[in-house]
Amino acid sequence: TERTLSIIKPDATRRNLTGKINAKFEDAGLRIVAQKRVRLSLAQAETFYAVHSARPFFGELTEFMASGPVVLQVLEGENAIAKNREVMGATNPADAAPGTIRAEFAESVGENSVHGSDAPETAAEEIAFFFAGLEIVG
Ligand code: GTP
Ligand code: MG
Repeated sequence: TERTLSIIKPDATRRNLTGKINAKFEDAGLRIVAQKRVRLSLAQAETFYAVHSARPFFGELTEFMASGPVVLQVLEGENAIAKNREVMGATNPADAAPGTIRAEFAESVGENSVHGSDAPETAAEEIAFFFAGLEIVG
């Protein structure tokens, strides 16, 4: 079993979609083993997305992520990283498969409702960035 970091982004919390998104995770067999709702500072968003700092949309992305509440989560399950990305759907909702979170809920490529770690190393780093070990209960 594997763990991944998930973030429900401000466009989704603003539209009161946390429960509907969590149902998608649980229906796919992912367990929510840690969860907290926070508002990120711009500095925290910039540190979290530092890998994208050279991209033209970095300012837009980090300002968006700091624009409202987010729900930080650790999801656990068999192949949790790949499974979560499958449930999320493609980055651009226009390309996301029917039934995925982004197909159903995302508003645009920037305001795309969820984040999910993309590999075991980044999952471990991202989980450690937001959660203490005692906050994760499998
Ligand atoms: P994450 O799970 O959020 O990392 O999404 P991803 O892995 O599907 O996409 P990627 O890592 O390539 O990009 C990270 C995030 O940057 C995306 O989820 C979007 O929120 C944002 N992003 C990507 N491309 C664009 C873009 O062209 N414009 C804007 N405004 N944001 C973008
Ligand atoms: Mg990514």
